[in-house]
Amino acid sequence: MDEFGMQFLLIYFLLIRSTASDTITTSARIRDGETLISANGVFELGFFNLANSTNRYVGIWYSKISVPTYVWVANRESPLTDRSGVLTVREPGVLAILNGTNGTVWSSAFTPATTPAPNPTARLLDSGNLIVKDADDDDNFIWQSFDYPCDTLLSGIRLGWNYVTGIETYISSWKSDDDPAKGQYSSHVDPNGYPQMLLKKGDIIQYRIGPWNGLWWSGAPDTSNDPTYTLSLQIFPNEVRYTEGIIGDSVLSMSRLNPNGEGVRSTWNDRTNSWASYTNLPVDNCDNYARCGPHGSCNAGTSPSCGCLDRFVPRDPESWGRTDWSDGCVRRIALNCAGDKFLKYSGIKLPDARNTTYNVERRSLADCQVDCSRDCSCVAYTQLNISGNGSGCLFYHGDLIDIRAMASSGQDIYIRMAASESVDVASNGRNRERTKTITIASITSVASVVFVCLILVYVYGRRPKKDLSMNDEVVGLFSATHVKEAELPFFSLPTVLKATDNFSNKNKLGEGGFGPVYRGVLEDGHEIAVKRLSKTSRQGVNELRNEVMLIAKLQHRNLVRTLGFCAQGEEYMLIYEYMPNHSLDLMLFDKEKSRLLDWQNRFNIINGIAKGLLYLHQDSRLRIVHRDLKASNILLDADMIPKISDFGLARSFGGNQTEAQTRRVVGTYGYMSPEYAIDGLFSVKSDVFSFGVLVLELVSGNRNRGFLLKEHNLNLLGHAWSLYKEDSLRKLVDPCLEEAFDLGQVERAIHVGLLCVQNSPDDRPNMSSVVFMLGNEVALPQAKQPGFFTERDISIDHSSNSSNPTASHNQLTITWTQGR
Ligand SMILES: *[C@@H]1O[C@H](CO)[C@@H](O)[C@H](O)[C@H]1NC(C)=O
Ligand SMILES: *[C@@H]1O[C@H](CO)[C@@H](O)[C@H](O)[C@H]1NC(C)=O
Ligand SMILES: *[C@@H]1O[C@H](CO)[C@@H](O)[C@H](O)[C@H]1NC(C)=O
Ligand SMILES: *[C@@H]1O[C@H](CO)[C@@H](O)[C@H](O)[C@H]1NC(C)=O
Ligand SMILES: *[C@@H]1O[C@H](CO)[C@@H](O)[C@H](O)[C@H]1NC(C)=O
Ligand SMILES: *[C@@H]1O[C@H](CO)[C@@H](O)[C@H](O)[C@H]1NC(C)=O
Repeated sequence: MDEFGMQFLLIYFLLIRSTASDTITTSARIRDGETLISANGVFELGFFNLANSTNRYVGIWYSKISVPTYVWVANRESPLTDRSGVLTVREPGVLAILNGTNGTVWSSAFTPATTPAPNPTARLLDSGNLIVKDADDDDNFIWQSFDYPCDTLLSGIRLGWNYVTGIETYISSWKSDDDPAKGQYSSHVDPNGYPQMLLKKGDIIQYRIGPWNGLWWSGAPDTSNDPTYTLSLQIFPNEVRYTEGIIGDSVLSMSRLNPNGEGVRSTWNDRTNSWASYTNLPVDNCDNYARCGPHGSCNAGTSPSCGCLDRFVPRDPESWGRTDWSDGCVRRIALNCAGDKFLKYSGIKLPDARNTTYNVERRSLADCQVDCSRDCSCVAYTQLNISGNGSGCLFYHGDLIDIRAMASSGQDIYIRMAASESVDVASNGRNRERTKTITIASITSVASVVFVCLILVYVYGRRPKKDLSMNDEVVGLFSATHVKEAELPFFSLPTVLKATDNFSNKNKLGEGGFGPVYRGVLEDGHEIAVKRLSKTSRQGVNELRNEVMLIAKLQHRNLVRTLGFCAQGEEYMLIYEYMPNHSLDLMLFDKEKSRLLDWQNRFNIINGIAKGLLYLHQDSRLRIVHRDLKASNILLDADMIPKISDFGLARSFGGNQTEAQTRRVVGTYGYMSPEYAIDGLFSVKSDVFSFGVLVLELVSGNRNRGFLLKEHNLNLLGHAWSLYKEDSLRKLVDPCLEEAFDLGQVERAIHVGLLCVQNSPDDRPNMSSVVFMLGNEVALPQAKQPGFFTERDISIDHSSNSSNPTASHNQLTITWTQGR
């Protein structure tokens, strides 16, 4: 190579180096237009401006993705007004942004305690941390951006307090999407009492994410099994700090506090080229701080949402009646200190922990009770750390504030009661059996009240009179005001008759849960589907009521949309958007039509159902268990987007419970989880089971029920599991897909499906994990044996039931009453 060539190469390498460096030194500053890139190319630092503004900022963003995502902004309060800025580092170790006339626009803090660096450099790390240190000292950082986070919590940032310096590290939102200056919202680790996470608007607590329970924040969904990140809170004499760590580095993941005060956790999805959010907090109105006042408990699934804790009564019944809940509730019987006892309340978000004391040495709950009963100011106790077998005690003093029912991650608290307070009236009794019975009793009685009301409506064709002692929502079910409250438009009977051509047979689409379904066309050309309650269906009345109450409040891309309601004389109808591709079973299990469902369609359908279900379980205001998820309840729109339908059996799970039991087991063979079919226990995890069955059906093109291979008597689940153990999942794939699929994606889907149908509900992932595992190439846990994996399994326990399965709606749905 000649000399010229050498020089060219040298210059070339120098150029490469200077554009892709991760370091600034006193002699190498960066100008607007240049950037630093971290060693492995994860993060990039440079100048940028936001959509509707010409202000220039220095910040850090993800380098490899096309959606600009700024995780940190240096001069968030002091933007440059033109492109003449430079970022420089100078002695004794200060990072500074200079403008065109070399005026300092922003500079990093230099505390007097820090050792000056003779040769300061700044480096952008692959964690997204920008550090300042001496070139010769790799161990001591003079300054780091992780100590001054903006709105984004990256793995490695420590939120919390340093009690020695008195400095707090916290997250604060941007002012708006085009102004990164400090906005109204901030989230803090609050060190008063036992540390808890608070979301504030200005100085006012907006949402209390709750005290740390050893695994997660008590007021947020249980994330202890989340496959992407781990949370941890550490308490030291001089420091309390909270960190989130990403598991593995295969995904980009971040938590951000939006300008509107919403905490969003998201992961980057390469396939859709966008951020997918999978936790949004706060969840609903019950997350508004202290919404129901002291000793009130908020339940998003009931109306009104505020109630007193059991054995408590409104402090001021009059204001309580006006739905002003701020005064809260008081004990029915005042405490006496000596002889007081403690009663257990389950499934709740722990109250505000600012007025608590704690003891990490005590091991058992019995120890906690001993300590608490000795101290008259101790009004309640709970386990401090529920990790493992549980340890430590948390003692409450003063009023118990900001309690809510948690659908799936609630905890227990033991509240002090007067000795004369009864133990047995409440639904939060001392043991589970009791709770179950009462739940059943109350469900049954509400149902019968409703039923009686409906009969009245039928017979007299008039609205039931309002009885204020009963739940408004129940009594006013079919009154126009109720329908209006549910924001469900009212359709007149003539409109529906005209649209469906007087329910003509040619418009009949099929039989739904409680009666026939017709297609119709409104005058404006909109197509609708009308579900008409058959006059003979008693059960249908309950189910229709259920559906009206639940689905009207739900809105999601993957749930069928209810357009309205029609009730006139003896006619009761629900009106939905029309789904041109009908239900999934008609397509998937049809030899010819199933060819139209290529793998991409099927995978999109799996993802869509998962998202719809996640919304039901976690993101909607009511937390809902569908209870009858199956292929015939998945409708497909013109673009093959799946919509979950038929909420006739769904139950809102707002109560202080994570699971419930019913004597009427209704659902569909082949989709029911063992604990539901055998014990009548249902929870979000029974839906997860049904979802798993659906996934395996979608991959294989076979129904779980009725699936039969000559060589064994396994059903589809058993068959999938045996292929999984043999490591030959490919054999499960529907032959009509003809190899036109991404094997990795198919295997991932089957594996997730198998995780969902595991025998024990506790082993099954929740839907947010499912959505995540489907969308990201993360390592999956080993699947254990599925429940109900042989055909024979299913019938084992039926012999003990007092009545036969009856085909109440259609031949696929069974109903029986348990002999308990
Ligand atoms: C920019 O302005 C347009 C029009 O006012 C608005 O629609 C858009 O949302 C703005 N973009 C951002 C990021 O604020
Ligand atoms: C700003 O500082 C740089 C480097 O010290 C120098 O080259 C430049 O002339 C200065 N610009 C102005 C406007 O003073
Ligand atoms: C540069 O910054 C200095 C100090 O902040 C300020 O006084 C000066 O007006 C700025 N110059 C320009 C061109 O913005
Ligand atoms: C909670 O308990 C677990 C297991 O016993 C322990 O590893 C963890 O450090 C504890 N956490 C706190 C905050 O005490
Ligand atoms: C939990 O309790 C069981 C049974 O008492 C014991 O065997 C186990 O070691 C305990 N685990 C921890 C983490 O303390
Ligand atoms: C904390 O509890 C004590 C004891 O009941 C009470 O006197 C005090 O007012 C409470 N403090 C706060 C801030 O609620």
